[in-house]
Amino acid sequence: MRRPTITIRGFHVFKGLLNPDEQAGLVADLRDVVAAAPLFSPDTPFGKPMTVRMTSAGKYGWYSDRSGYSYVPTHPAGTAWPAIPDRVLAIWRDLVSKARDPDCCLINFYSEGARMGMHQDRDEADFKWPVLSLSLGDEGMFRIGNTTRGGKTESIWLQSGDVVVMGGEARLTYHGVDRIKFGSSALLPKGGRINLTCRVVD
Ligand code: SIN
Ligand code: MN
Repeated sequence: MRRPTITIRGFHVFKGLLNPDEQAGLVADLRDVVAAAPLFSPDTPFGKPMTVRMTSAGKYGWYSDRSGYSYVPTHPAGTAWPAIPDRVLAIWRDLVSKARDPDCCLINFYSEGARMGMHQDRDEADFKWPVLSLSLGDEGMFRIGNTTRGGKTESIWLQSGDVVVMGGEARLTYHGVDRIKFGSSALLPKGGRINLTCRVVD
């Protein structure tokens, strides 16, 4: 079993787990995913569009609109989501489980000024499965809170190639991304941050 570099409130952070070649390979895979399932900015349940753009791969995609958050079997254009890239599945099997692959890989793209408010991931059926997060491109300030909203928080900069496993006590912990350091990484020619989160949904 690999050892995390640091564990904060149950969030296992593997710094620099993905080398530059693996990061570039993932970006190439994601270009194919985005060509088949273009990025979009869903509305939050409060009616404002999210500042991140997103798409998904897998059996389900994560979706949000005024009626709330859900997993849906098709992209807003009506097409099935593309398959989760093998390279992503290999990381899941290495760090999370060989017994069960994720049903959804949510792809979040943060351009300059994008952020993600504090939230829990709780639209899945079984919280015993961790959420696996992979970060690519510009650094993002990841904030970790508590299992109820509010209270003291801690934050950590996630850099390109960092991987986080959010399971156990971390599975229902509030988390979010305050801001990115736009242009801090050369991985994406136009800058920005990509975060992938793999989830078992059913
Ligand atoms: C998320 O919680 O869905 C995204 C986390 C991140 O961008 O690091
Ligand atoms: Mn989340």
